[in-house]
Amino acid sequence: MLNRREFFRLTGASGASLLFAHAFGGCASDPTHMPPALPEDPMGRWWLSGNYAPIEDEIEAFELEVEGALPPSLAGTLVRNGPNPAAGESVHWLLGDGMLHGVRLEGGRALWYRNRYIQTQALRSGMPSLASNLANTALKTHGGRLLALYEAAPPTEIDPSDLSTIGEYDYAGLLRRPMTAHPKIDPATGEMFFIGYAPFPPYVTYHVVDASGALARTVEVELPAGVMMHDFQVTERYAVLFDLPLHFDLARIAQGLPFRWAPEAGARLGLLPRDGSSATVQWFEIEPCFMFHAFNAFDTPSGRVVLEGCRLDSFFAEVNAPPASPWRWELDPERGTASEERLADGNADFPHVDERRVGREHRIAYGLRFDDTTGRDIAPPNGIRKIDRRSGETSLWTPGAGEQPDEALFVPIDGDAAEDGGVLLSMIFDANRGRSFLGVFDATRVADGPFAKVWMPRRVPFGFHGIWLPA
Ligand SMILES: [Fe+2]
Repeated sequence: MLNRREFFRLTGASGASLLFAHAFGGCASDPTHMPPALPEDPMGRWWLSGNYAPIEDEIEAFELEVEGALPPSLAGTLVRNGPNPAAGESVHWLLGDGMLHGVRLEGGRALWYRNRYIQTQALRSGMPSLASNLANTALKTHGGRLLALYEAAPPTEIDPSDLSTIGEYDYAGLLRRPMTAHPKIDPATGEMFFIGYAPFPPYVTYHVVDASGALARTVEVELPAGVMMHDFQVTERYAVLFDLPLHFDLARIAQGLPFRWAPEAGARLGLLPRDGSSATVQWFEIEPCFMFHAFNAFDTPSGRVVLEGCRLDSFFAEVNAPPASPWRWELDPERGTASEERLADGNADFPHVDERRVGREHRIAYGLRFDDTTGRDIAPPNGIRKIDRRSGETSLWTPGAGEQPDEALFVPIDGDAAEDGGVLLSMIFDANRGRSFLGVFDATRVADGPFAKVWMPRRVPFGFHGIWLPA
């Protein structure tokens, strides 16, 4: 782990240089300054109001204002994906046209920002539906391709140089199923693993893409019912599947999303050997819960499997439901038993670990805090939390008044850096200015807040998931 002095030596920043330079335009300390009014949806739909509301134009800006000092070695592009309904409205936050926001950092400078709609068939037709590929959820790069992901459809290939859309990508015609928004890449083998789920059998498919980018295997997995399986995990031996009781219910489409909470069906975690078939999945009963995202999973030396994730008591079942708790399940394939316990205090979701630790035991996990229950079905994040699994310590950055963070991604400061030796990047909306900034945090000192801010030329609507593309 880096100490503070080592961190600033690597980043080229000094304590003195961290005094923020004066910001251009609309300084929050200027009493005459009023930030631009944010959109308010007359029907009270939170995802069309405030900084969740869509923006209308695609722009580019160059040489962005930087407060503080960016690490010179931090070279690459942060790209975020999220919903931005071109029609100005949508029936649910999850159902807007995908829009990408990119920020290029290099040599201590922020070279550019640009935002681009993903040019899907649904966008071009102007008639998006639940069956459309909105490409709005996440991004993954593998086999030399950058893919925008949407769990109800195949991926959409993006040109990383300018965020333009290349088109739907189907692995040489081999992929005829949806792809999860959260594929996993084994850092040792370079293989990519993903699942897809659907309301009709086969309810789940599991796929392996070899290190060259060729789709090598597809396995249909039998489930008793169609469920939402937003995420899964891989260890060095297994794919870990989540058969949780958020069941498809197509009669509910008119209310927004076609799912219902069905705890009476029970909940299971499945271990599918990475080269196995549906018949080789070993299922473990757990207490009913739902989980959008997990931190990671790994094999233990004794042959057990540990899964750590963000556990919700329920979903779509109650208003003001408690936010997700960091949770740990331990599965024993030999005995067929599962145990579970809370992993850490507080709550967290939109988790991230150092991607060099995917499928291996990790020490550090990062996530967003969701303490602010507002009667919405999806609460707004109000902090960035870090969990040190070895020491058991958690730390928390609490944003200032008017600030709201988006997903925080860990980026190693160089390829040899230890776990936690790097920065966290989070796009943060500042309502005081009506603009967003990219907050750059020393990962070892998250609670201190960002040591550098890259000011965007506009507000960046809250989105879902992003990716760091190293230069
Ligand atoms: Fe997600």
